[in-house]
Amino acid sequence: MSIAGRVALVTGAGQGIGRGIAERLAKDGATVAIADLNAETATEAASGIVAAGGNALSVVMDVSKESSVNEAVGKIIAEVGTVSILVNNAGIFRDTPALEVSLDEWNFNLAVMLTGPLLCARATAPGMIEQRWGRIINMASLMSFVAYGRDVGYCTTKTGLLGLTRSLAADLAKHNVLANAICPGNIMTSMLEETGRLVELRDGMEPGQFMRDRINDIPQGRLGKPEDIAKMASFLCSEDADYITGQSLHVNGGLYNT
Ligand SMILES: NC(=O)c1ccc[n+]([C@@H]2O[C@H](COP(=O)([O-])OP(=O)(O)OC[C@H]3O[C@@H](n4cnc5c(N)ncnc54)[C@H](O)[C@@H]3O)[C@@H](O)[C@H]2O)c1
Repeated sequence: MSIAGRVALVTGAGQGIGRGIAERLAKDGATVAIADLNAETATEAASGIVAAGGNALSVVMDVSKESSVNEAVGKIIAEVGTVSILVNNAGIFRDTPALEVSLDEWNFNLAVMLTGPLLCARATAPGMIEQRWGRIINMASLMSFVAYGRDVGYCTTKTGLLGLTRSLAADLAKHNVLANAICPGNIMTSMLEETGRLVELRDGMEPGQFMRDRINDIPQGRLGKPEDIAKMASFLCSEDADYITGQSLHVNGGLYNT
């Protein structure tokens, strides 16, 4: 495996898509740093990987705060060495109607979803450059391309993340550091379940209707699983992807195509 022995940092990896990616990269042979705001889920995810025979450690990190990012990355480097793979996965989904969202809420969305990935890239890229090998994966979304309403915080930051990806790719290609974005469709995680509950309450829908509608919209007839996204992350970290950078890759069961 090409990433055996490399260190991968996955943010928001205590649960959901991030956890799926961390488990897959550990199976591929990487030592995985599980970084999350939630210390409990981060520890649990790392223990699960170690119990399955992989190498992992957990760190508490708030991606929106520069001091927290730098401190956590410093700890990872001290414990397991230079970070070669960064997966900027941590994210939030909150009700943000464009004309009503408070500036505090708007700035919070920017800080977690856009500034966070930049801070993590800045903290880890120097080591990748020194090693002349690095992979940065940014978790964008179908909603980098489509808005459904009351989602200006999410759509704006996920679209901005595509720009950040291209910019990092352009700056870092000469150092053999590649940056790409994955754009998941509807993936079954707590985030999607919570979004479903929010929309059903708001629009007076029956419980379960949100998920049924999502499944009906997907040509492949099922919601995605974290493993579906992890397969793409694994590919992007492999040598088979060594001429791919600055791209946005859709993984959505045919729900949307450009
Ligand atoms: N689930 C989907 O359908 C879907 C679709 C497209 C994109 N995405 C994106 O995939 C990523 C993962 O989503 P998920 O569905 O697994 O969500 P999730 O809510 O299950 O997990 C998100 C994780 O991020 C962590 N987190 C939140 N804020 C953080 C912060 N400031 N610092 C560090 N960690 C923080 C949470 O503690 C949690 O462990 C997100 O960026 C999300 O926007 C999800």
